[in-house]
Amino acid sequence: MTKLRAAITGVHGYVPDYILTNAELEKMVDTNDEWITSRTGIKERHILKGEGQGTSHMAAEAVRGLLAKTNTQPDEVDLLICATTTPDFVFPSTANLITDMVGIRSVGSFDIQAACSGFLYALTIGTQFIETGKYRKVVVVGADKMSSIIDYTDRTTCVLFGDGAGAVLLEPNEEGYGIHDSIIRSDGVGQHHLFQKAGGSRYPPSHETIDKRWHYVYQDGPSVFKFAVKNMADVSAEIMERNGLKGEDVAWLVPHQANKRIIEATANRMGVGMDKVMLNIHKYGNTTAATIPLCLFDYESQLHKGDNLVLAAFGGGFTWGSVYVKWAI
Ligand code: UT7
Repeated sequence: MTKLRAAITGVHGYVPDYILTNAELEKMVDTNDEWITSRTGIKERHILKGEGQGTSHMAAEAVRGLLAKTNTQPDEVDLLICATTTPDFVFPSTANLITDMVGIRSVGSFDIQAACSGFLYALTIGTQFIETGKYRKVVVVGADKMSSIIDYTDRTTCVLFGDGAGAVLLEPNEEGYGIHDSIIRSDGVGQHHLFQKAGGSRYPPSHETIDKRWHYVYQDGPSVFKFAVKNMADVSAEIMERNGLKGEDVAWLVPHQANKRIIEATANRMGVGMDKVMLNIHKYGNTTAATIPLCLFDYESQLHKGDNLVLAAFGGGFTWGSVYVKWAI
């Protein structure tokens, strides 16, 4: 009997209208287009504007589009998982809010927090529910409003991030398509290299935490860079090796979009040419949990049934991971 796998049977994405260009950032901080482009590959990013607009609003757009596209009624969905580092509220979960917005009722929904690796963590968890046969339709969404935790006076972080959301539908497949393997890893050694210090239980919001700018992302870029290059490349090579994949067998590398140079190093280690690497960092910057589903959405028309995809991510924590997918649509 063929193994029951979780196949991605639909993908949709959403980015807000407002575009923050490198030229505009040049007017806000001491930076320039040449530095941002050569060091990161980013040209512009989308920013969610508007009072009371949170991560859930973008995620709900992505999920609504996904349901329409896959001809799925809200009451057919068995589970919704949202990966995010920028939830609308401390509680209830953003997944809760999304289900309400799109009319999905009385099913399980929860958030996953694994920073930039969140989507791969959520995808891996969603896969388990399909593989066991418990559920038939699982929505996995990655969404972040990074602009809500970015200090737009700090040039080392404000040029990097953007806002967006992407969602996939997982359904059972017994024809060999879908998620074949996944690796998720973490190491707390990274906790002080990339984090938001205040706003949680250790340092609840206070005048002092605000004065100290602890509600913004802090990143020691060069340290994160070194870990990212090593771990994203290692985990991608590992998943290829244990599934007997050579560079030429991989149709697409789908990497987290944090820095074009990290992506190039990963592709090089995998023996995959840059023509087979999904890249949209120039348009969106780093949208944290949304980068990978937004890549799948942007490149959807170039994907073929049976294509081998290697998804790879690295982020705060540190967290990292890789997923091997045989494209099903
Ligand atoms: O997605 C989650 C995981 N995150 C990542 O994977 C990000 C990993 N890190 C990186 O991508 C890179 O470290 C950055 C893009 C963040 C920074 O690039 P870098 O090549 O590591 O630069 P750097 O931090 O070593 O800074 C080099 C110089 C410094 O000036 P001095 O000390 O050499 O005079 C910085 O102050 O560039 C300066 N600099 C800037 N200059 C213009 C830093 N940010 C900027 C800026 N514009 N925006």
